[in-house]
Amino acid sequence: MADKLIIFDTTLRDGEQSPGASMTRDEKIRIARQLERLRVDVIEAGFAASSNGDFEAIHAIAGIIKDSTVCSLARANDRDIARAAEALKGANSSRIHTFIATSPLHMEKKLRMSPDQVLEQAKLAVRYARQFTDNIEFSPEDGSRSELDFLCRVLETVINEGATTINVADTVGYGVPELYGQLVRTLRERVPNSDKAVWSVHCHNDLGMAVANSLAGVQLGGARQIECTINGLGERAGNTALEEVVMAIKTRKDYFGLELGIDTTQIVPASKLVSQITGFSVQPNKAVVGANAFAHASGIHQDGVLKARDTYEIMRAEDVGWSANKIVLGKLSGRNAFKQRLHELGIEMASEQDVNAAFARFKELADQKSEIFDEDILAIVSNEAQAEGGEHFYLVSMAQHSETGERPSARVVFTAQGTERVGEADGNGPVDAVLNAIESQVQSGAEQLLYSVNAITTGTQSQGEVTVRLSKGGRIVNGVGTDPDIVAASAKAYLSALNKLYSKAEKLNPQLTP
Ligand code: KIV
Ligand code: ZN
Repeated sequence: MADKLIIFDTTLRDGEQSPGASMTRDEKIRIARQLERLRVDVIEAGFAASSNGDFEAIHAIAGIIKDSTVCSLARANDRDIARAAEALKGANSSRIHTFIATSPLHMEKKLRMSPDQVLEQAKLAVRYARQFTDNIEFSPEDGSRSELDFLCRVLETVINEGATTINVADTVGYGVPELYGQLVRTLRERVPNSDKAVWSVHCHNDLGMAVANSLAGVQLGGARQIECTINGLGERAGNTALEEVVMAIKTRKDYFGLELGIDTTQIVPASKLVSQITGFSVQPNKAVVGANAFAHASGIHQDGVLKARDTYEIMRAEDVGWSANKIVLGKLSGRNAFKQRLHELGIEMASEQDVNAAFARFKELADQKSEIFDEDILAIVSNEAQAEGGEHFYLVSMAQHSETGERPSARVVFTAQGTERVGEADGNGPVDAVLNAIESQVQSGAEQLLYSVNAITTGTQSQGEVTVRLSKGGRIVNGVGTDPDIVAASAKAYLSALNKLYSKAEKLNPQLTP
């Protein structure tokens, strides 16, 4: 394909490094399947050496995904690289992505290594990775704050050792478009063997310029790979948003002149899935995937759009996968119709028993609300996945009472590792009372960092989706719960957050440890 831009999605690795966004193996698999439907070129599925859970997730994804290259991150050491190679075994196409910091600040303060030691370690790491694959990406971490001469030496060395992609990391979002674009260009001009590698951009959004920097790296610098995440998820202010760079390249093809392999109609479903699984909601005015991205509030705009759509719209909502909340199923829909819709949404249930459990939940929901949308089906599947995951805490039932002038009270029945527990408490409001009732039994002592409610479709018939973020002992977790009753959704979200807090699945952050 003439001048193709490679889209490398790192939602499952860098995106997962957002506090609270850590995902289970099954959640990662669901997202990976959606990324494949979106036709991203490379899926960075995780950091194999960070935990057994991440290793298993990468291994499972490597076995399932056929059309995208599956990649694992690895620090520049033999153990990480061997672990990544092991996790990727069985993949149709795989890549090892290894990195080491090259800025004076990171080398001296974080790694406590001299530049020569870093150079040697980068060289040996790529040489070792070469034993497993010929698809190797190397990133100079904090590349945008590194000394140019040293960076050129490192990059020339790793390309000589066999690195096939060089990823210029703007790790702390320090770049500005012109300078970052020039940096990529200068590196390509000065590194003598630069033509042997694909050049890639990896930008963080600390100053809100990740997308602009990435596009400058492509246009001014000549990079042909962009690293990005769905909804711009990622550490601190996040990474380059996939939906934004993809739609910029597509909508302004007159300017960029690049080809993409992406099926853009899968963008909004991917955005919704990632938001629902991680509990990171999308702001309404977010470009491309925000609820208002194609809404025209002002009368003048509405009039213009009705006369000729392109007066105020530069993209078509349907081209990025917006479908006006279509009713897909109802009370009378049968098991086959439900199963067919699961299939169309790309959801593979592990067994017929799982389909039956999800169908039973669908019937319950259809009794509560007559119209069932795709968003409802996704929520059912997530709830079922939590139940099947043998979660420690699981909601059985709840009741709450609130009346003007009286302090609300609640009674919650839930199981803790199979044993029924009943908590009763009051609170400032019904949600507070329900959470206090659970806490009266669990006594986690966790700090609540965030509580948010969204309607997953439109209108008051919609299910409420609640996110609760808890922190304890330096760990931050998000719990998500959905239910037509937002107080019940809150109880589910709180229990889901507690489940994550009590799970042993600690993950190592690749950038915090040498
Ligand atoms: O931001 C960064 O430097 C990274 C590297 C591991 C590529 O995520
Ligand atoms: Zn990063």
